[in-house]
Amino acid sequence: MPKSDINSLSIEEAKKELDFLKSELKRHDNLYYNESNPEISDAEYDELRNRLNEIEKIFPNLKSLDSPSQKVGATVGTLFQKIKHEIPMLSLDNAFSQDDMIDFIERIKRFLKLSDEYKFEFCAEQKIDGLSAAILYENGKLIYGATRGDGYIGEDITENIKTISNIPHQIDYPGRIEIRGEVYMPIDSFKKLNEIKELNAEPTFANPRNAAAGSLRQLNPQITKSRNLKFFAYYINTTNSNLKFHTQTDIMQFLEKLSFSTAKYAICHNIEEIMDYYNKIYQLRENLNYDIDGTVFKINSLELQDRLGFIGRSPRHSIAFKFPPEIAETKIMDIKVSVGRTGKITPIAILEPVNLMGAMISKATLHNFEEIERKSISIGDTVRILRSGDVIPKIIGVIRKSQNQVFRPPLICPSCGVSLIKYPQLIDLYCPNHYSCPEQAINYISYFVSKNCFDIIGFGQKQVIEFYKEGRIKSAVDIFKLEDYDKISPLSKKQGWGEVSVLKLYQAINAKRSVSLPRFITSLGIPGVGEVISNMLADKFENIDNLIESQKEELIETEGLGELMAEEIYSFFRNDINLNFINKLRSYITILPHKSINTFDKNNKFYKKMLIFTGMLTRMSRDEAKNLALSKGAKIATSISKNVNFVIVGENAGSKLKKAQELNIPILTEEEFIKNI
Ligand code: IVH
Repeated sequence: MPKSDINSLSIEEAKKELDFLKSELKRHDNLYYNESNPEISDAEYDELRNRLNEIEKIFPNLKSLDSPSQKVGATVGTLFQKIKHEIPMLSLDNAFSQDDMIDFIERIKRFLKLSDEYKFEFCAEQKIDGLSAAILYENGKLIYGATRGDGYIGEDITENIKTISNIPHQIDYPGRIEIRGEVYMPIDSFKKLNEIKELNAEPTFANPRNAAAGSLRQLNPQITKSRNLKFFAYYINTTNSNLKFHTQTDIMQFLEKLSFSTAKYAICHNIEEIMDYYNKIYQLRENLNYDIDGTVFKINSLELQDRLGFIGRSPRHSIAFKFPPEIAETKIMDIKVSVGRTGKITPIAILEPVNLMGAMISKATLHNFEEIERKSISIGDTVRILRSGDVIPKIIGVIRKSQNQVFRPPLICPSCGVSLIKYPQLIDLYCPNHYSCPEQAINYISYFVSKNCFDIIGFGQKQVIEFYKEGRIKSAVDIFKLEDYDKISPLSKKQGWGEVSVLKLYQAINAKRSVSLPRFITSLGIPGVGEVISNMLADKFENIDNLIESQKEELIETEGLGELMAEEIYSFFRNDINLNFINKLRSYITILPHKSINTFDKNNKFYKKMLIFTGMLTRMSRDEAKNLALSKGAKIATSISKNVNFVIVGENAGSKLKKAQELNIPILTEEEFIKNI
């Protein structure tokens, strides 16, 4: 609509334009808040809103109650109520080859001390490429539906779940029962949706999974309904219910009896049958009306599943055996060098854009300069690229070489000009200027505000670069001082910013002044410490001060943490610059209390006790015994000392037993251990 001088508008014209602005603003609010997929910049949004305000000022009679000028805008991050999952919704470990699957079986065999003759039973399922959801029923009635969220706390999407046609609102089971499964968008519905979006010149969804995600988190359930989502059930949580199942296939049958849809599943006994099922489903994939990205194998016996327990965020009893990722050919147009948030230098190939699994790819990582040398990569080469999941694609080989020379590593940092360093034990080059290299700082701050860290909505790399360049922020702490700084230098006066976008930004920042412990740990950017390790550390240490003061031995005891990583974390918290940063940050934010996934029974004999195992156990493997003890809140020692509370002895125990006797530490047999735990 062409913009004309407001004073020359007739009342009809003003009304027409107001209607247009109202519907546009509503559409953009929806794109911003629900779809996380804005079409216009904040400045353009502000322009629309300012125009609406001005027309209303001149034509006050046209101002209606439903005008966007009457609302401040939805509060960021509180669109949906939160629901705490009774038991966490975790994820699966991945396998990519027959060897990985053999390892998976062997790991289980060792963990449970099963003989070579043991006759395994796996429930083989399709891995649906959608979003997991939990649906609670009480006395036959659907009570709520929740997203996975961060695995512990999901979002209440009950009204949207109720619009999914194959999810019953009423089931024939009188007690409390929670059903879990995958919400997905059928491929034909996805194609139709994108066609309509294209017709309306709206941005399309890249794949059915994104489309399902965008449709499930809608404020208006009518929109969700129109998207024709579907649900496959694959799990029943029996906590707080009277139900008891023996196998995963029993669960699947019960789900069918309750009239839930399940994807086709089968029983496999050994690696040959596993490979057959996997290959069969891979062939079948083309003919399905939904996307699958692999198969899932679950130990069928629920008793064994319980015994196997978890490692990190994944169960030991199940695995996703993924399909091979897709590959495409393209040409390297240029090679750029980037400085990561830890100073790591990464060469990046700029590609001739190519379509891969529905997404246009124009960049690929070259990892490091040794890799360039090994593959002898130069600008102009035709290469094969591979993409799996959401990660940045990588180059797997050169198909045709150009005449150009192999790309040479730089000597100085492209951002700050400081000489690059090669540490003897590491492959990568590093910029050592951790505290004032602009690209490093910008990348760290961008990481800090990103989804797995503080998740500040509407604050991305673009804003970080803008604020950094003008000196508005120099460190992540400055994010929380932005609103105060506004009094000195108002952001709304700057080009590209308006009152509304500034307000939205400060709202988004203020919404994150409370942060969970795992997110806080992830945000510190300790090399190698991502979401998974942060969760483990949070579970173990329960507050940040315990983690800061932790000793190397305690860190090494954290499941899944190697010695190197423990060393890295230990030295991170011995660096004054880091401690100073944490202290400053804590004066602006609150770290929420953290409760570990394991709510321990405080009456258990081994709760908070230090245990040590010695000799050969006969009823279970050492790993299973340790795991069992950890799951009851015990700690495991690696050497005998006065701090050890119990020594558990198996057959042929040696020097540790002798030392325990000398130190008068209580000694338990394997039988006594099992009885008491
Ligand atoms: S069982 C502990 N079974 O894959 C998690 N998950 O990569 C138990 N998924 O978060 C999940 N199809 O969203 C299971 N047949 C299936 C599945 C399935 C798809 C998803 C699910 C899970 C993710 C793990």
